[in-house]
Amino acid sequence: AMAQDKFKIGLILPMTGPFASTGKQIEAAARLYMAQNGDMVAGKKVELIVKDDTSAADVTKRLAQEMVVNEKVSVLAGFGLTPLAFATAPIATQSKTPMVVMAAATSSITQASPFIVRTSFTLPQAAVAIADWAPNNGIKKVVTLVSDYGPGIDAEKYFKDRLTFNGGQVLDTLRVPMRNPDFAPFLQKVRDLKPDAVYVFVPSGAGAALMKQFAERGMDKAGIKLIGTGDITDDDILNSMGDVANGVVTSHHYSASHNSPLNKKFVAAFEKANNGLRPNFMAVGGYDGMRVIYEAAKTTKGAGGQALLDAMKGQVFESPRGPMFIDAQTRDVVHNIYIRKVEKVNGQLYNQEFATLKDVKDPGKAR
Ligand code: DHB
Repeated sequence: AMAQDKFKIGLILPMTGPFASTGKQIEAAARLYMAQNGDMVAGKKVELIVKDDTSAADVTKRLAQEMVVNEKVSVLAGFGLTPLAFATAPIATQSKTPMVVMAAATSSITQASPFIVRTSFTLPQAAVAIADWAPNNGIKKVVTLVSDYGPGIDAEKYFKDRLTFNGGQVLDTLRVPMRNPDFAPFLQKVRDLKPDAVYVFVPSGAGAALMKQFAERGMDKAGIKLIGTGDITDDDILNSMGDVANGVVTSHHYSASHNSPLNKKFVAAFEKANNGLRPNFMAVGGYDGMRVIYEAAKTTKGAGGQALLDAMKGQVFESPRGPMFIDAQTRDVVHNIYIRKVEKVNGQLYNQEFATLKDVKDPGKAR
């Protein structure tokens, strides 16, 4: 096909390094979407160009620049971590290229460029829900423990403000390095403070190490509960965490055990195509991002730029996570947040949803 007969999507992800699971999940989900929906859109052949940024922000930015200038992509997509999305935002703005954020979840990312649309989630959306649940369930005194960067700071702030508003108390706010964290000294601090619970945010993939150290230090035996946003009980690794994860309550927008016909179909197809790998919330952000791109391209008959961006705004659809839409004003995702408890189902650990908050907008945009 001639260049103008192609519709190119530049998918930039961490495919190697500590955040490679995010890249693997999103690439697999994007390929599944294409396998299910075809590789033609508006009479053009869709070309998915996948590049590994190794989770280094300067690399993400350089790859985005190359994709826009050399490949003439219609869309930039992916963005596995907040700093990678922020570094690339000026490229989207300058080149008027829609940039679909499928993973990164710091609230303010969508304000970094008018060309950003988000299909992942925001930490404030998830954090507020568990801060409402906790004090009604015997958890009044909490220590927060978060990765020391954008989403962790959001997770800490929105949890603390809401828990305090609800009459609870945050005894201390601990922040751990984002890369290669040693949780031991922080967990010791938590133990010494004797809270009802520790509330945790770590990025996708890091939860298993935290859980292991939580168990090793006997925190659960000391009566300290663990709560958090669903990043900590990530479906990608949940089943390998063992008994320490059983019973943990979190709030999030996606569980692989979400009970809908569409999700059952999605999970079965994803596992079949990926050697039994369970899709996580990153996969869903990628899958829904492809949906937003395809439908926008149909509307513009394959045209890009501002028209393509406008056609992404306001899309309403059913995701494997449940109903969702792209808020036309903020370009951010609005979806249900579920309270979930880890339980064994047929011998496998799953986040079992037991309460739903409907159509949650990003609290970071409301002020
Ligand atoms: C971000 C990354 C994650 O892996 C996650 O679970 C949430 C947020 C981020 O960098 O924005």
